[in-house]
Amino acid sequence: MEDASVAEARKDHPMWSSRFAFILAASGSAVGLGNIWKFPYITGENGGGAFVLVYLLCIALIGLPIMIAEVTIGRRGGRSPINSLRMLTHRDGLSSRWTWIGWMGITASFLILSFYSVIGGWALAYVGQSASGAFSGGNADSIGALFGGLLADPWTLLVWHSVFMALVIFIVARGIRSGMEKAINILMPLLFLLLLVMVGYAMNSGEFSQGFAFLFQPDFSKLTTAGILTALGHAFFTLSLGMGVMMAYGSYLPKNVSIVKTAVAVSVVDTAVALLAGLAIFPLVFANGLEPGSGPGLIFQTLPMAFGQMTGGVLFGSLFFGLLVIAAVTSAISLLEPVVEWLEEQKGISRLSGTLMGGISIWLLGLLTILSFNEWSNVYPLSFISAFESKTFFDLLDYVTANLMMPLGGLFIAIFVGWFMNKQAVENQLDLSNDVAFSLFMFVLRFITPAAVLVVFINNLL
Ligand code: TRP
Repeated sequence: MEDASVAEARKDHPMWSSRFAFILAASGSAVGLGNIWKFPYITGENGGGAFVLVYLLCIALIGLPIMIAEVTIGRRGGRSPINSLRMLTHRDGLSSRWTWIGWMGITASFLILSFYSVIGGWALAYVGQSASGAFSGGNADSIGALFGGLLADPWTLLVWHSVFMALVIFIVARGIRSGMEKAINILMPLLFLLLLVMVGYAMNSGEFSQGFAFLFQPDFSKLTTAGILTALGHAFFTLSLGMGVMMAYGSYLPKNVSIVKTAVAVSVVDTAVALLAGLAIFPLVFANGLEPGSGPGLIFQTLPMAFGQMTGGVLFGSLFFGLLVIAAVTSAISLLEPVVEWLEEQKGISRLSGTLMGGISIWLLGLLTILSFNEWSNVYPLSFISAFESKTFFDLLDYVTANLMMPLGGLFIAIFVGWFMNKQAVENQLDLSNDVAFSLFMFVLRFITPAAVLVVFINNLL
């Protein structure tokens, strides 16, 4: 049972207005560049179907249980991740070292946002390009050159990266949760709708069956262990897991809302957006003779061709990239928030100065990513480690966060909730009317999830 001090602490802790509001906020964090930019290009690089299948398995067997575990910690703790962990470990008589999960999460948020903002900047740049009709009549070569030109120019990248970070800083500094809630209410469905329009376009004008087959027909000869680790890392990235973000959001979740149902809803929305993005993009890749494995530029080199050819392409193109920016901003906010929250907890730092300190440091770190695409595209800082050979600063930041820090964070969260946290408390939080369902969940969380993460990890080390 929860003790009185917790109940008291919760009284002045704000709550989401409804289950729907939580689902939207959590989806706002989950749905971002990961779904529309990263998922298609890593799927392309890893050969399609088999990779997608592994990714879906990772979402269901690893991502979903960890999301449930994270929200459970957050709601029971009712505080920021580090303090929730500190309190729960204290209350259950466990080592306070578990709070270390929270510290790793803050560090990972900091690193991720530094490159996330640069890519968000690409999307911003593309709003302008679409609106000015730069895609009209474009073919693979001219559109490719447009993108190449953007990457080659550090100053333009810097401008858009700065605009993106400024937007994020502005929103986080004001701490407008309720404003965000309302905006996301409208914007998320709109993004979904536009993606459907793009899929419709791909059905009519692209090699739809070839694209569909690429996504859903597994060819296991194309699957590598590195690919499996990428799929695992992406399951964490796309669901915003392993770093305490869902813990923080869970702390605002009212007690009468089902954690399990909510987590399932968020995972389904997130996965649907990623798959729709794939269905919109790959038919165009094949119809235009592009290379599915061409890397981070994939959506910036395929979709503009469609916009350049369709009627109303200027409008649809601007809208689409505009919504991509918004999806990226709602995720970026959830990445800056933990950093700011932690800075605020230090004596004498106000929300405004905390946001500025965090935001500006992240902006500075982003310069490494900008330079990775041009001046320093041949600089491989850790090339003496064989796993990091030919990885630029951007590649390293992406790799270390998605493939190492998030899975590690998730592993410890699963172990903490599965093996250490008071079992009765977990059961109370989950409130599954069905004992079998609870036992099944605990079994997956205790054995399957940690084993799967470990197997992928160890395989990759060998
Ligand atoms: N999930 C977001 C995306 O797919 C990225 C993101 C936002 C994130 N917040 C996070 C990833 C927290 C890990 C942890 O674009």
